[in-house]
Amino acid sequence: MSVSLSEKITHRTAHVAVIGMGYVGLPLALACARAGFRTTGVEVDARKAEALNAARSYIEDVEDAELTSFVEQGTLRATTDYDVLREADIVFICVPTPYTVQRAPDLSYIVQATEGIAPRLRAGQLVVLQSTTYPGTTVEVVQPILEEQSGLRAAEDFYLAFSPERIDPGNQQWSAYNTPKVVGGLTPEATAVAAAFLRQMGAPVHEVASPGAAELTKLLENTFRAVNIALVNEMALLAERMGIDFWEVLDAAKTKPFGFMPFRPGPGVGGHCIPIDPYYLLWKAREYDFYTRFIELAAETNEAMPYHVVDLIIEGLSRQGKPLAGAQVLVLGVAFKPDIGDPRNSPAERVIELLQLRGAEVRYHDPYVPRYRIGGDAFRPERDLLESVALTKEALAAADAVVIVTGHRAVDYADVLRHALLVIDSCNATAGQTGGASVIRLGAPVRS
Ligand SMILES: NC(=O)c1ccc[n+]([C@@H]2O[C@H](COP(=O)([O-])OP(=O)(O)OC[C@H]3O[C@@H](n4cnc5c(N)ncnc54)[C@H](O)[C@@H]3O)[C@@H](O)[C@H]2O)c1
Repeated sequence: MSVSLSEKITHRTAHVAVIGMGYVGLPLALACARAGFRTTGVEVDARKAEALNAARSYIEDVEDAELTSFVEQGTLRATTDYDVLREADIVFICVPTPYTVQRAPDLSYIVQATEGIAPRLRAGQLVVLQSTTYPGTTVEVVQPILEEQSGLRAAEDFYLAFSPERIDPGNQQWSAYNTPKVVGGLTPEATAVAAAFLRQMGAPVHEVASPGAAELTKLLENTFRAVNIALVNEMALLAERMGIDFWEVLDAAKTKPFGFMPFRPGPGVGGHCIPIDPYYLLWKAREYDFYTRFIELAAETNEAMPYHVVDLIIEGLSRQGKPLAGAQVLVLGVAFKPDIGDPRNSPAERVIELLQLRGAEVRYHDPYVPRYRIGGDAFRPERDLLESVALTKEALAAADAVVIVTGHRAVDYADVLRHALLVIDSCNATAGQTGGASVIRLGAPVRS
């Protein structure tokens, strides 16, 4: 069995299927096609499948031109039909793993995708879960569904592994082609086969002994970021009170060539990973009478940052004799990080909701996010679709406060300072810039 899939991998005749063609699945499918494998994306959203079959990318890191030749050759295509899995040799699962409003893991997408694979599973196939999730998911959730519905046994009949995705949207240096991969299979054979395939993508592959070790590796990486961001957020709040500019401190600490990594304070954490993944681990840890206090503390600190941004806005307005209620606030940047267009779990949403709850009139500008859906949570039960306004000098001058949540490089901050009355800068985007506006920077002395 292993010989045949190994041979197909070596000869690049294995057919790859990728379930979920989003930020993770589409670049993976492209990397597989580029490595010479016939690849099919299985996607519930028919519009995405259609776009891909027309070589139209909907992901910033993938250019249309990169898709064209593979789509034309027929080596890369997408479908909404799970039956394609019957011919696949290797199946990747790249579906979302969000959390519920109470921050409990929501594995419904993984369960649906696995239930789509199970009745079509063949002996000798390799199934690799890539969605970020808590240790135990591959063995406790995916394996039983696959075995019960197919009648096959994972240890004997097919290969099962977990390999986390490390893609960093917008990162020009590290991509699917050079970022090392980690993989852990249910059996040594599964690890070896999955690693052999992943090596065909070009990046180094690090093998671990089990799916659980690979699952926990991903959560360690993201928890490390969450905890360190929380640390600098806490320090920035302290520096504000001490009348010290934390950004200057950070620049100074960065000169140490060893033993220090710079993390930036800001309005909170966002995206599909840092705000969510640690909660997956926290939830699972409780099953073992274990309380991950670092994670709780980091979450508490990071989730308090949007409230602090609103406090800074209130402070700035009150200095001008204005209340927040009725004030016009222009939010700059709603993507979860600079220079990308993904607004998922961005701290901008909570900032906007809190401002609205306090009676402010909020508009936003983001060059990468033309429309922004907010609400559907405890803060704003009804949903709302906001539209980005043009960043004109009139829009800047009309705002009682301009708050920079995400510091996209495409925005001219000198111009913002020239035309705005009051700027609350939560991410140091205006560093080194001067203008007529009164500026309050998060992490810098407020009463200077
Ligand atoms: N985006 C990132 O930067 C990133 C980085 C590392 C890991 N991850 C992890 O990768 C996983 C996927 O994240 P993403 O950002 O690609 O999500 P995404 O929302 O961009 O893409 C997921 C895709 O899966 C599709 N889908 C949902 N259910 C499906 C089903 N049953 N069958 C087929 N398609 C289905 C959705 O329509 C969507 O297109 C998550 O677990 C996430 O935590 C994401």
